[in-house]
Parts: sequence; structure tokens; C-alpha cells
Amino acid sequence: MRMTSAVLAAFVAASAFAAPDAPVKERALPRVVKKDGRFALFVDDAPYLMLGAQTHNSSAWPAMLPKVWPAMEYLNVNTVETPVYWEQIEPRPGQFDFKVVDALLAGARQHRVRLVLLWFGTWKNGSQHYMPEWMKLAPDRYPHMVDKNGHAVDSPSPYATASLEADKKAFAAFMRHLKEADPQRTVIMVQVENEPGTWGSVRDYSPAAQKLFEAPAPPEVLAAMQVKSVAPSPNWQDAFGPEAEVCFHAWSVAKYVGQVAAAGKAVYPLPLYANAALRDPIKPGAPGSYESGGPTDNVLSIWKVAAPALDVLAPDIYVNDPVAYQKVLELYHRDDNALFVPETGGPAGNARFFFSALGLQAIGYSPFGMDYTRNRPASEASQPREEFLTPWAQNYRLIGPMQREIARLNFEGKLQAVAEQKGQVTDTLKFGPWNAVVSYGPGRRGSAAGNPEPKGRLLVAQLKDNQFLVAGYFCRVDFFPAGTEQQRKSQQIVQGTGQIPSALIDGKWQHRQFLRVEEGTFENGVFKFLRIWNGDETDWGLNFGAEPLVLRVSVATY
Ligand code: DGJ
Repeated sequence: MRMTSAVLAAFVAASAFAAPDAPVKERALPRVVKKDGRFALFVDDAPYLMLGAQTHNSSAWPAMLPKVWPAMEYLNVNTVETPVYWEQIEPRPGQFDFKVVDALLAGARQHRVRLVLLWFGTWKNGSQHYMPEWMKLAPDRYPHMVDKNGHAVDSPSPYATASLEADKKAFAAFMRHLKEADPQRTVIMVQVENEPGTWGSVRDYSPAAQKLFEAPAPPEVLAAMQVKSVAPSPNWQDAFGPEAEVCFHAWSVAKYVGQVAAAGKAVYPLPLYANAALRDPIKPGAPGSYESGGPTDNVLSIWKVAAPALDVLAPDIYVNDPVAYQKVLELYHRDDNALFVPETGGPAGNARFFFSALGLQAIGYSPFGMDYTRNRPASEASQPREEFLTPWAQNYRLIGPMQREIARLNFEGKLQAVAEQKGQVTDTLKFGPWNAVVSYGPGRRGSAAGNPEPKGRLLVAQLKDNQFLVAGYFCRVDFFPAGTEQQRKSQQIVQGTGQIPSALIDGKWQHRQFLRVEEGTFENGVFKFLRIWNGDETDWGLNFGAEPLVLRVSVATY
């Protein structure tokens, strides 16, 4: 039998989840690849889009997993993010126990999903709560940070050599175990620490830290932050003024996390990342008003130079305002950083922001707290068990069957995507000679009013010059001949009338016609034709409702 690439992809996917006792062939290592200024996460040697969901913090225990997998199944994820607890794997110094990790690997394989494991080590949300008991009971050896008044803070010192060495050792042991236990690459990425940094003090004020703060700032930091210095070897204060303390703390924390990451990577080079508790993306408050020292947007360049073993710096996005959400995505989508959203949440409508992330070539996305281990908020308690997951599940139901194609199209720069904003009834995506005009809410082409609560979302990918793949919910799309700026004005007038989308180009009207609007589904990487849309299905715009819908649209002009 000749193996087409689609058949091969299906074979690869199936064999990654071979039966537990079958001999397992070592698969290609997952890796973050950059080409032509764009990133992809390669899994099994091809671009992969993480359709993820993160469990609650205390859900990665074997007794809790029966309340995790059903939620993940309902969500249709291809990747589960879940913690690994330092306090559990190293109950006594140097004695490691990986039973819980093995239960996660087995469960993930059984449920045919990949894993992103979160190393809850020295830092978890700025604190040292996941350090093993034997460390917690020896604060002189594994010290806390000290605030301005000399009081211990609920945050580990980034200068504690014994803590650093212990974390490096434990993380390397964990990665070594993965290397041995996971030749099929069930684990595709590892998060090093969780929201590292400090709440309650901008930096450490211990005598040792103070000495470092007053010393010259490292030249690589000055270069990375493009500091034009007045003095030859400026200290942190001279170099960074009001941001000096947060930059200094970021350097200290990033150096530490970078060394832990490097120790693990030396053993088993999986893609690694660190996640950030954000500062306000629109009106950032002064240092001290947000978690200090983590990879917040103002210090990403410091983290890059201090922790090169980390492949990605990733935002945990818990903002609801679409402008702020978009801004965060833009801040972390950089030439030196792939966009990856390892945590997000909020009201149901926020599920549409998955499409905003896709529009900026996200390699993965993962709402937080997606399991059945905890009671839901009273406001949601009357909903059936699955309902709070539904808007997120909708995304993955639509994209799941074609995640490889979406990842590839995004890596090739052919995909754009949008999410509805309140008060904005249309969006325009530009593809050379064609503009894809998206309009939201009920109503026909040219009379869109927006959804009562914004929930519209759509992606468009250019397959050929005049052919597009379109998928989304609660909106409609049409294709306009692009024309010049002047010509677009006349186009708007025609758009407003609800007539055939047209543009006056070089003195001649160009009118859009559909050659073929095909509804289909993806199976094993191949578009499977279901039917041709025409008549009422196309005359009033191509409408996307509450059901997953994928169209392949061929257009021409007359
Ligand atoms: C962000 C943290 O990274 C998660 O582990 C979790 O604590 C959430 N906040 C809770 O909302």
C-alpha cells in the first residue's frame, strides 16, 4: 500500500498510543521550530496545535484522575496540562518516587492525549509551598526572601544555593524518569516552576541581595534591555531607574529557573517554558502592584538572556476585556518567543479568545481548572455537569479533527482568525486580492448587529489564491475583491447595501461569485466533502451558528 501523508499521519498518531505492553519505538523529540519568523511546536516531526486544558492544582493524584479524564474527553482536548509535585516525588532527600507520574503517563495514553507536565518546584504562584517538608522545616538552609523591614516573606530566596541545587537535582531526576518511561513522547512539554516570582516584596532585601543590587548590572542584561548607559558600568538603579528593583529581581529569579531548566534539559531535551502572572497590559501599575520577578511583559528580554534553556515564556491570561486580552497576546507573540497560552479562564464568552490566539500563531492554548474535582461557583451550580466546559469544548470539537492542518497553515503564515468584540460588528481579514469580511450576530449579510453577548469567532486560511478554508461559530463571512484604499471606499458602500460584494478596481467593477462552497469534515488530515452549499445557504452570506462547521470556499470575479 502506498502511504499518503494523511495515512502516515494517522498511523503515527495511533502508534503514539500503542497498547501498554507493546514494544515501544522511540519517537522523534518534540521541539519548538522557528522558520521565516514563525514558530511551531513539532510533535512526531510535524506542526502540532496543543488543544489543551489544565487541571486544578490538586487533581494530579491517582485518586482524583477519574474526575479528570471524563472532563478532558468532553472537552475533546489533545493535550492535558497537570502538575508534578516536588513534595510528592522527593519525600526524603534524594529518594524519588515517580508512581504518580507513571499514573499520569498511563492515564494519558489510555485516553489518547498528550501531556504538558508542570513542575511545581521552588516556586508556585510566588511561594515555596510545594517544597518537600524536609526543606520547609530547614529555613536556614532553604531560606525565604526578606522584605524591606527584614521580615521573612512567603517566597523563596532566589540566592539560596542549597535550594537551587536541590531543585536542579530533583528536576533532573524527574526529567531522567520521563526520558526512560516515555519513549512514545506522551509528554510534549514541561513547565519549569509555576508563576515564579514574589508577591508582597518587589525584591529580596537580605544583605547578600543588597550587595548584588548595588553592584554593576551584568552587561548582557544592559544589552538585552537596550540600556543606553550614562556611566561605564551602571548599577541596577542607574540603569533602570524606577524599574530597577523589578528588573533585578527578574534577573535573579530567571537565573535560578534557567539553571533548573538547563539541568533538566541536559538530561532530556524536551521543550521547556515558564509562565507569568501578568501585570496590567494596558495600564501597568508600579512595581509592587503585580507579581515581581516573573516573566512579565516588561522583563521578557531579561528572562530570555538569563534563562536560555527555556524555549517559551508564556502568559497566564485572566483578563476579560478583549482589548487587554489581545494586548497580552501581542506582547508575548515576539520574534524571539512563540505565543503559548498555558492558562486562561473567565466567563464562557472568553472561550472565543482561543481564536484571537490562533490569529497570532499560538502553538497552544489551555483553559485552567477543567475537571470535576471541585464544586463550581454558586452562579454555575445549577448548570448540568458539563455545561461550564461547553464553550471551550466547542472550540476543540471544531478544530480537533484538523489540528495538524491548522498548525501547518499557521506555521506557513496562511491563517488569520478573529474573535468578536462588543460594539464592533465586522472584522476584515486581508488575503492579497481578497478581503474576508466577518460579521457577527443574527441578520443577513450587510445588516449584522453583533451577538447580544460577544461570542462570534472565525478562522480563515488561504489554501490557494482563490480558495479558503473557513471555520467558526456565531458569525458569517463573505469575500470581497480587495482593491486599493480609494477602491475600498466604494466597496464599503456596496457592502452596506447588502448586494454582491464588489469593488471598483482600475475603473472596472469586480463582483464576487462563489465557484464552489463545500461543506466538509477533516478525517486523518484529509478534507472529506459532504455537500455543496448554494441557493439559500450562500445567497444570504455564509452563516456559522452553534454547530461545528467547516467550509472550503472557492471564489472568482465577474
Ligand atoms: C494561576 C496559577 O498558575 C494556577 O496554578 C492557579 O493557582 C490559578 N492561578 C488559580 O486561578
